[in-house]
Amino acid sequence: MQEEQGDGQWLLKIPTQIFIQVPMKIQNIVCIGAGYVGGPTMAVIADRCPHLRVTVLDINADRIAQWNSDHLPMFEPGLDAVVARCRGKNLFFATLTPELIRAADVVFVSVNTPTKTFGEGAGRAADLQYLEKSARFIKPHLKPGTIIVEKSTVPIRTAQALSTIFSYGQDGGDYPILSNPEFLAEGTAIRDLESPDRVLIGSSSNEQGRKAAQALADVYAHWIPKERILLTNVWSSELSKLAANAFLAQRISSINSISALCEVTGADVGEIAHAIGVDQRIGPRFLEASVGFGGSCFRKDLLNLSYLCEAEGLKEVAAYWSSVVEMNDYQINRFIRRIIQVQFNSIAGKKIALLGFAYKPGTNDTRDAPAIRIATGLLKEKAVLTITDPKALDNARLDLQGLEGTVHYEADPYKATEGAHAVALLTHWPEYRALDYKKIFAGMEKPAFIFDGRNWLDHQALFKMGFNVYPLGKTPLSHI
Ligand code: UDX
Ligand code: UDX
Repeated sequence: MQEEQGDGQWLLKIPTQIFIQVPMKIQNIVCIGAGYVGGPTMAVIADRCPHLRVTVLDINADRIAQWNSDHLPMFEPGLDAVVARCRGKNLFFATLTPELIRAADVVFVSVNTPTKTFGEGAGRAADLQYLEKSARFIKPHLKPGTIIVEKSTVPIRTAQALSTIFSYGQDGGDYPILSNPEFLAEGTAIRDLESPDRVLIGSSSNEQGRKAAQALADVYAHWIPKERILLTNVWSSELSKLAANAFLAQRISSINSISALCEVTGADVGEIAHAIGVDQRIGPRFLEASVGFGGSCFRKDLLNLSYLCEAEGLKEVAAYWSSVVEMNDYQINRFIRRIIQVQFNSIAGKKIALLGFAYKPGTNDTRDAPAIRIATGLLKEKAVLTITDPKALDNARLDLQGLEGTVHYEADPYKATEGAHAVALLTHWPEYRALDYKKIFAGMEKPAFIFDGRNWLDHQALFKMGFNVYPLGKTPLSHI
């Protein structure tokens, strides 16, 4: 059904007897996938477009029940208020229901696309099975001309596969496929959705594709300035999402590589980040040295990008993007090694308190959090861990389930650090800056060590209190 053009565009060859009805005006939106992306994105669309009916569907009945309750399935600042304004009015959450799909003018597909864990490309390629299953599920229930929107992050040319699934054996209509990747970051999702730097809509260049892209752009134009709504071809849109995450992650790996050099030379990574960040060509953001990046996207998308390059025979390009992940692994392992070495090369039986477990503040999400690997590494050395986090303790429990060793979970940071030999700050929650570190020091074993994996605390003040302080990319402040 498809005809490729040389410029990376594609057209659908449509049997002449089929009349394509792309709804010019969107009234009814359905989203498959009520996750970290689908849920907040649809909530903001509903909030900003009260004339639209927005329904979020998910195979997971428990998750839907949470969305319909007072305890939403995720912690995201501002989300509760947005949901409270629209739920039951023009925003609905339900399990997958054919009748609801039939009513849709647009179906967003926002299911997870994790890294493949099996077979060809295991550990690198994206696992598209949920995307394909969702497409196959919705297809028989769509009305002709319904616009399908790829919201999930996907490898380049996934739209083509979707197009084949939707057009194969069709019985009365064809479906324009758009790519509309989401750039929200967790913790700031509502702000990012309400005022995004850009919205990207990729479509095929035929009339059907252009009309569909315009119809979706008109929805976003209700609250986003038109100049921020970028219309591109599908492949550019799909690849832009991977490229954006790869570039962001690469900046973090770059500054983390410099942090290692700082530690052996006496330079200060904070001063360097400032000095290079004021160069307008470089800019100040995403230059914070850290214990490593985490989250559901960066590692997955870098590995996916690298795999795609390799599959296209671009070995050097693949190696370049893989190295960003390798640098991140190095940074995490370096942090673990340091905790062990500094404590006289033995942490067996020593209590270590982990301050923070979420991969960043402002979320309860722990997917690919550096804390998981740090906890695992320390447990291998038989440390006794106490983990505290304002929001992510439930997820931490699930992540570390079944690991050998002793792990305590404690909501109160003072209790968590009581009797500890060392504290490792892994998530820069604002409340961790406001803790009474004199009190913490008093309750700890001596010598007391603090490893600041985010350069978040006042190191001089901690040193004066008696702590041996190990920041990232700075000279340690040690009494020993
Ligand atoms: C999103 C994107 O879709 C992913 O591609 C991107 O890289 C990260 O952000 P996210 O919203 O974070 O994923 O995933 P998750 O929170 O796991 O939500 C996915 C939802 O889809 C889950 O609630 C899951 O139950 C649902 N789902 C999954 C379906 O409804 N049907 C399926 O077949 C599979
Ligand atoms: C990222 C992208 O920012 C977003 O556009 C995309 O849609 C999804 O992936 P997210 O993973 O939610 O968003 O958070 P982000 O703020 O990008 O942080 C990712 C990781 O990098 C976190 O672990 C964070 O702590 C770390 N980070 C970020 C650093 O270590 N240093 C920095 O300077 C910035």
